[in-house]
Amino acid sequence: MNAPVVKGLDIQAPSYVKNPKLVAWVAEMAALCKPDRIEWCDGSQEEYDRLCQLLVDGGTFKKLNPAKRPNSFLANSDPSDVARVEDRTFICSEKKEDAGPTNNWMAPAEMRATLAPLFDGCMKGRTMYVVPFSMGPLGSPIAHIGIELSDSPYVAVNMKIMTRMGKAVFDVIGTDGEFVPCIHTVGAPLEPGQKDVAWPCNKTKYIVHYPESREIWSYGSGYGGNALLGKKCFALRIASTMGRDEGWLAEHMLILGVTSPEGKKYHVAAAFPSACGKTNFSMLVPPAGFEGWKVTTIGDDIAWIKPGKDGRLYAINPEAGYFGVAPGTNLTTNPNCLRSLDRDVIFTNVALTDDGDVWWEGLEDDAPGKKKPDHLIDWQGNDWTPAIAKETGAKAAHPNSRFTVAATNNPALDPAWDDPAGVPIDAFIFGGRRSTTVPLVTEGRNWTEGVYMAATMGSETTAAIVGQVGVVRRDPFAMLAFMGYNMSDYFQHWLDLGKKLEASGAKQPRIFTTNWFRKGEDGKFVWPGYGENMRVLKWMIDRIEGKAEGVDHLFGVSPRYEEVNWTGLDFSADQFQRVTSIDKAAWEAELKLHGELFEQLKHHLPKELPETKAAIERRLAA
Ligand code: GTP
Ligand code: MN
Ligand code: MN
Repeated sequence: MNAPVVKGLDIQAPSYVKNPKLVAWVAEMAALCKPDRIEWCDGSQEEYDRLCQLLVDGGTFKKLNPAKRPNSFLANSDPSDVARVEDRTFICSEKKEDAGPTNNWMAPAEMRATLAPLFDGCMKGRTMYVVPFSMGPLGSPIAHIGIELSDSPYVAVNMKIMTRMGKAVFDVIGTDGEFVPCIHTVGAPLEPGQKDVAWPCNKTKYIVHYPESREIWSYGSGYGGNALLGKKCFALRIASTMGRDEGWLAEHMLILGVTSPEGKKYHVAAAFPSACGKTNFSMLVPPAGFEGWKVTTIGDDIAWIKPGKDGRLYAINPEAGYFGVAPGTNLTTNPNCLRSLDRDVIFTNVALTDDGDVWWEGLEDDAPGKKKPDHLIDWQGNDWTPAIAKETGAKAAHPNSRFTVAATNNPALDPAWDDPAGVPIDAFIFGGRRSTTVPLVTEGRNWTEGVYMAATMGSETTAAIVGQVGVVRRDPFAMLAFMGYNMSDYFQHWLDLGKKLEASGAKQPRIFTTNWFRKGEDGKFVWPGYGENMRVLKWMIDRIEGKAEGVDHLFGVSPRYEEVNWTGLDFSADQFQRVTSIDKAAWEAELKLHGELFEQLKHHLPKELPETKAAIERRLAA
């Protein structure tokens, strides 16, 4: 293929790249960013190993002790670059109202003019990696292709784990196939002779989406959702707009399969905000009292959901790996997760032990007699001892420290995780992190009531985003940070889908709301959570099978104490009351907040939502 000439740079694509539009775009971006070299990634193991070694040599990676954790690495980021930056994330649709009031917006022309000087020469002294990836099984009709250009080898190796990355993607796009162009730079050009730092990044950050032209431009951060553009930027923000236009859904949801001892299988998709339990729930190990039950993982973070020919909804996991929260993960809370991390892992911002392994807060909490390490190197490279921690409160691992690992490492991986047809969804769950007010579990009485609860969901903020932690904010559908278009139009999209499902006569998914996080007066979680969430999941299945009557209340149906299987858990009716009770005053205040949200979203807000609110208010007053 004849490559356009970029001064002083060999941009010759490999012979298997046959798409002129793609080659022209790479040349255009190379001319703008002015990297020293271009490397076309082929996704091979040889390439992965070579780039990891490059990262070790450059000081970004430490190789962990192979006797403890084979083929694994630790990266410590710059202390300023540790989470998604929502205030620097933009949806640049032509019209402001299409981005809606919950997104930062700038006119595309203005944003392009802002970014042009920043990207000009931004990759000087670095290599531009051309990373071809497929979201969803390669070549499947529901998959979509992206190409990420990045000057970060850390991004290239993470994308290899998180997506189907490599040469075969070029075959799929052929000579004229579609792809989403994604450009990423850490924004730290090197002058000739200038020594690089371990984690290059820039104080200025822009995470930019152009929904109409389906482009992603990311500047200044090397971290997670800001830099691995297949994930939040493509699979949620851009894909949600594709879904709006084409009649499907891109959701911040885990997907799991749950099989009863009789071999009956159900599929559940659950949306919890960032760092509120998706990865944990997707790998749940059924506790005592649930012998013969099995939970299997299809996805842990993102679901693409489409109506099938039979009228039911089918979900696929567009990703191929997990970028999960490390702190709190241990053999009791999430044994499947811990086992997934035995080998072939990239850790970011956890602590390093003296014998070359990793550690994080909560890793040993479950092991009686196993004490915290005497000495560690913390995520910022400082000495850490229990005494220092006690005195300064310093965390050894950053609260948003993460692991990157292939889905195939998960011992509970569902055999259908890679099935292009997806799995049929029986129930949706929406769950926030609320220390008060919201009960453990409620089922919406109908699709509209379920959509209402999802739309008005509140959650306390976590370390997964830059900013204050622990403040309740509205996070509709756990999508606040990931919506590619107007939130009210999205609510309408969900309501329309419900009508379509109803018209098809096919079995509709039930919609549940959960809250694992109610606290007692002692400030501790009342509900034990993690594996014990199986008890709630089982009640949901009983509802689907018509075996549990539940109690009708303010905004749906919740379980009676006797309807939950308590075998193997000491949880009294009084404790149950504390996680399920509905406080009138708290709900009056809560509904006021729903009202504020609706006021903010009034443009295009579906009338069904304020109508449902009025019905709940009448019930509360009665
Ligand atoms: P993202 O990957 O950022 O989208 O988050 P996530 O939804 O996958 O969250 P994850 O499962 O990683 O959980 C985040 C934090 O919540 C961890 O510190 C967990 O220990 C904690 N957590 C998860 N499930 C439960 C639960 O059932 N109860 C309680 N109390 N904590 C939980
Ligand atoms: Mn997430
Ligand atoms: Mn997760």
